[in-house]
Amino acid sequence: MGRVFVTRRLPGDALKRLEAEHEVEVWPERLPPPPAELRARAREAEGLLCMLTDPVDRALLGAAPRLRAVANLAVGTDNVDLEAATERGLPVGFTPDVLTETTADLAVALMLAAARRLPEAEAAVRAGDWLTWEPDRLLGRDLHGATVGIIGLGRIGCAVARRLEGFGVELLHTSREGGTELEHLLARSHFVSLHCPLNPETEGLIGAEALRSMRADAILVNTARGPLVDTAALAVALTSGEIAAAALDVTDPEPLPSDHPLLGAPNLVVVPHVGSATHATRESMAGIAVANLSAALRGERMPHAANPEVYGLR
Ligand code: DGY
Repeated sequence: MGRVFVTRRLPGDALKRLEAEHEVEVWPERLPPPPAELRARAREAEGLLCMLTDPVDRALLGAAPRLRAVANLAVGTDNVDLEAATERGLPVGFTPDVLTETTADLAVALMLAAARRLPEAEAAVRAGDWLTWEPDRLLGRDLHGATVGIIGLGRIGCAVARRLEGFGVELLHTSREGGTELEHLLARSHFVSLHCPLNPETEGLIGAEALRSMRADAILVNTARGPLVDTAALAVALTSGEIAAAALDVTDPEPLPSDHPLLGAPNLVVVPHVGSATHATRESMAGIAVANLSAALRGERMPHAANPEVYGLR
């Protein structure tokens, strides 16, 4: 039996399985534990089950001498200093595969929402501004037949591409293995959808220059990580008409303060990082995170470690 800190309540019954084996403390608030609280809990813990909102950096790991495993409830692990964890031989769990299709669904939903101006149209109805059918009102853009550029053809990028085959689009992609040059993709695509991980090479990938090189009728979709896009440059591009619209599930900063300049752009669709937010998927993610942590605390290999080097793999 080990001491485990879980930084938020989880959907489903995965936590019950963890509680059956370990002494578990769950942070009860809606907001994440503040840094001092996280540090205090981590200092005593042998296992940490954390969210993408919890910075598990070198300093935190250094302050947690008893820690034997970290399980992140996400496929992305940019909130965890993997290098520091690996140096210490600490496995870091992640939750791949189970959220692929759900996140891809949202990416396509965002493409359509921005292209067909759904939030604007719905707000008009609710505000009583539906007077009659108008031939030139709320005109949007077509997804079918468009050129769609997928940046990062990994698990989620491929799942988006599969969905889009049904829309008869022309697909372009960039990936680690090749594909189209980024410049070409940006210049040609009516929709640019981001599906790459956040790391030092991809941070700020879509900055002022990239936005300038996109088509004036392009729609940028981000369901990956906020810092892939330079927020200030995006605000300029949206308000000056450099691109037609953006649809974001992730932002930088996250959350976006309610008075943030980006929110002044009418051609922006934004939702609060809900890419994986379905009952089934979040319960599966919780199940994997618990399985990762339990295995590591039993001294077994995690089923899904983001740093398999700790097991001498990769
Ligand atoms: C992840 O798992 O990295 C997602 O962003 C959560 O929705």
